[in-house]
Amino acid sequence: MSQPAGLSFEQAPPFSLPLRFFLTAPPFLLAAAILIALSPDELASRWTPQALALTHALTLGFLAMVMLGALMQMLPVVAGSPLPAPRWVAGISHATLLLGTAALMAGFLTAEPAAYGIGAVLLGAGFAVFLAAAAFSLARAVAGVTVNGIRLAVVGLALTILLGLALALLRAGWWAPPAVESAIAAHVSFGLIGWVLLLVIGVAYQVVPMFQLTPPYPPRLSRWLAGALFALLLLHSIEPLMPHVAARFVDAALAAGILLFAVATLRLQSRRRRKLPDVTLDYWRLGMASLIACVAVWIVAQVWPAWADSDAYPLLLGILFIGGFAVSVVTGMLYKIVPFLAWFHLQSQLQAKAGSIPTMKDMIAERWMRRQFRLHLAACALLAAVPFWPQLGVAAGSVLALSALLLWINLLSALRRFTRHGGGFS
Ligand code: HEM
Repeated sequence: MSQPAGLSFEQAPPFSLPLRFFLTAPPFLLAAAILIALSPDELASRWTPQALALTHALTLGFLAMVMLGALMQMLPVVAGSPLPAPRWVAGISHATLLLGTAALMAGFLTAEPAAYGIGAVLLGAGFAVFLAAAAFSLARAVAGVTVNGIRLAVVGLALTILLGLALALLRAGWWAPPAVESAIAAHVSFGLIGWVLLLVIGVAYQVVPMFQLTPPYPPRLSRWLAGALFALLLLHSIEPLMPHVAARFVDAALAAGILLFAVATLRLQSRRRRKLPDVTLDYWRLGMASLIACVAVWIVAQVWPAWADSDAYPLLLGILFIGGFAVSVVTGMLYKIVPFLAWFHLQSQLQAKAGSIPTMKDMIAERWMRRQFRLHLAACALLAAVPFWPQLGVAAGSVLALSALLLWINLLSALRRFTRHGGGFS
């Protein structure tokens, strides 16, 4: 097995740097599942303490955790621009994200000002360190469609964090930001579209053709889409100042851009060179199908006001976007990155000849990845039904808990094979 071309693997950080993030994420997915299973009635609205706590277990504890770990690896290797003091950056941002997210979740669940305060200070400090290092690396990186997508996503993250900190300080009773409603709306849209979606789009331009052997994305799309979505997002955040028709046009353009990315990716995957079954491909397909479902649910809300005013509408949109799209694509990425890094570091540490160490495919058993995918798919289907049948909450949370546990066990199995064949952590 050879290393993909055009990547600077000599600049790869030590395995432990990204790995600590990847292995810390599944327990937060498990925590979100337990919150769903234990208090399904509390999910009737997106604003209940349980709903806000599990939203951040997913967006910070799982998604941000894996995405920061992936950036620790991709900035030096894909962008060819190492992070300054990577061990310090990884150590500080990992510990503060872990403890800060737990404190913020405790803040939502207990309404304790101190918990909000501790969460805000830890998350603020940790993200400040990571964002400064990422900005330093991205400023020196060679421009390209993936680097530009990552740059916009990192700006989206910075705006999301600033707004989130302001909202946490409000809840701690330490500060009252102006225009709270707009701050919340901007926090949500920059978090989900500006950070999560734009990072997936930027990275997709590289990893979908590379790992799934598809043709490259159309050059015009990869050149314009991320920038156009970011500009529309900025306009979306000032919608209260716009005439109604203009605001509707901005939202429709955003929905069209999201649809374009999902359909373009599915079309490329249907033209991939190798037609073998691949769990990662199935995770990406589920992710793209969920994005298309998000746009469909949004279109229904444009023509059916009763649905737009219901509590179920934003809940279903959140479940499809965060669970169906983001968690699926990020899990699919984990199943490519972790086996690849375990093989890569084992091979380079041992200067091993082919055949003497496990291949990338041997690092995690395919049948166990597939079983986890099926659990995830079932959990997504049950969760999408919860806004209509809340009594399914216990089943949905329980299946999601099993899925999170098996994901963790699968990732740990790669680690076990790595150490059993002589791999070490420097
Ligand atoms: C420093 C990190 C963060 C802090 C301190 C934070 C804080 C908050 C607070 C206090 C609220 C409740 C708003 C209110 O009703 O008062 C909130 C809502 C929300 N946050 Fe965050 N947040 C952070 C990061 C994120 C990230 C990275 C994302 C997404 C990627 C995110 C997604 C959301 C969503 C979706 C809601 C609204 C819940 C809903 O609409 O159902 N947050 N956040």
